[in-house]
Amino acid sequence: MMALGDYRLHDASAEIYTGYSLTRASQADPILVKQIRDALRPLFPSADKHLNEESARLLAMLEDDDASLLRKIASMWSKESSPTEDVHYLVVFSRLRGPRDETLTQQVAAALLGLHQKLQGREQRVKQVWEERLGELLENLLRRDSKLAGALLKHRGFIDPGNVFLAARLDLEHRKQAARLFLAALRQDADFAWSGFLVDLLSLLPAAEVHPVMRGQWSNFGLREAILLRLAEKPDAVDRDKFLAGLESNQQQVLNACLGALDQLPRDDTPRNLVPLLRLLHRLEQEPKERALRRHVLNLLVRQAGKPFAIDDVATDSTRLKRTYAPVYTWFTKQHPDLARALHEEGDDDPAVWNKLLAAVDWSKGDALRGEAIFRQRACQTCHTGSRALGPDLTGVATRFSRDDLMTAIIYPSRDVAPAYRMNVIETRNGQLVTGIVAFESADGLIVQTGATTTVRIANDDIASRLPSNRSLMPNGLLKDLKPEDVADLYRYLQTLKPALKDKPKK
Ligand code: HEC
Repeated sequence: MMALGDYRLHDASAEIYTGYSLTRASQADPILVKQIRDALRPLFPSADKHLNEESARLLAMLEDDDASLLRKIASMWSKESSPTEDVHYLVVFSRLRGPRDETLTQQVAAALLGLHQKLQGREQRVKQVWEERLGELLENLLRRDSKLAGALLKHRGFIDPGNVFLAARLDLEHRKQAARLFLAALRQDADFAWSGFLVDLLSLLPAAEVHPVMRGQWSNFGLREAILLRLAEKPDAVDRDKFLAGLESNQQQVLNACLGALDQLPRDDTPRNLVPLLRLLHRLEQEPKERALRRHVLNLLVRQAGKPFAIDDVATDSTRLKRTYAPVYTWFTKQHPDLARALHEEGDDDPAVWNKLLAAVDWSKGDALRGEAIFRQRACQTCHTGSRALGPDLTGVATRFSRDDLMTAIIYPSRDVAPAYRMNVIETRNGQLVTGIVAFESADGLIVQTGATTTVRIANDDIASRLPSNRSLMPNGLLKDLKPEDVADLYRYLQTLKPALKDKPKK
């Protein structure tokens, strides 16, 4: 490896090939390369684990084309092999040029699909990065084996919530087939675990088939934004309330989708339905840069209310913007005095509302089981447990925090955000603002986690600026519409998240 220029640590053709490609392989003397190959091939496999790993790695770096080598590599995958080793040999396999036959294709499919189960057993933390890397690996495996996609779909381990992200990497035809398979599984198993990947995959099928299934998941807060993005692609008037609810989102992408959907629906002048638009407009006054969004909201307001407003949005600070839009609120308050309160009250972070709720809670009456259901429904589960946790582990949280502080952390997530969880605001060259946690950074771009189940990819060339934000990825309003009993249940459940008792205090 050293003689051939050593590991390539930067700008590998794929992120997973960092450490599996060489810096100067192309300039190497072909005779030397042949000598190296001839010396290496008989070394693999040996009785030495490390020799195996490294000789396979070097053969992968050289993109060896020996037919029998593929079979030997495939023999490294078994029920007992560790997932780390499996991935190593899958990456190696993807670089080798030898011919694939049906047996090999099957073995690759089984190794890939087996990873999820193996990792689950070990309770290792699998981050977004892992899915990104495995996805990249799959793309490279597919490039060398046209039968692999079909083999994956046929494999009986394929239909598993943990494999949906793999389906996302297949070609369109196979993605559609996968979507059909997962849809059938959803219909059979009411407990099938949903994910943002699943919502995206299903959106390949006709709206008439999948939108009803997605609507059925509306009570799951963690999926709402992903679902809204899909429903907005083919807006239906039955979803009007959902699009209006979506206007509370912090994500520009979701706001644009909901506003666009409302544009396409028949005009609706119900005064109550103007309130979410006005509230959004009010919120956008705080962000002078969001001029395009404000214009969109205003146009929609004009259409729905049937009242033209002469607004000249030129101010660059929020105080003046507030004055600019004041006539809109004056008009609305005069027309609908009964609704005027709704404009400013019951905000997601109105302390008066929350204090009233908390004061009514009988903390001694909590039921952990019901609390767990709320934990799942309100998406706490999506962000705080399992392999892709975006937020901190909540084990022991009820002992680390006083009850008041705990409720504060849940109701006002952005009051105190640990540095590790700060979001970034990324402005793209065409003026879009994307706010989220940078989940993956590679040579050509970023993947930004913008919500519990939504991500946005941005190419490096499209990034105009990247600034830290003080806001939390955890959204406001997660306890909205809960009754005092529900809050007691949730608290009771959080109290049960105790660390495993490893070191019992000695008496
Ligand atoms: C979109 C993802 C997301 C959702 C949904 C979410 N959280 Fe969070 N949560 C986070 C992140 C990220 C942090 C860390 C940053 C912060 O403190 O706000 C956090 C922090 C917390 C904290 C503070 C923990 C600590 O150690 O500082 C608590 C408590 C908490 N969340 C509880 C909940 C509960 C209860 C729910 C459901 C009602 C919930 N979260 C839903 C992402 C989420």
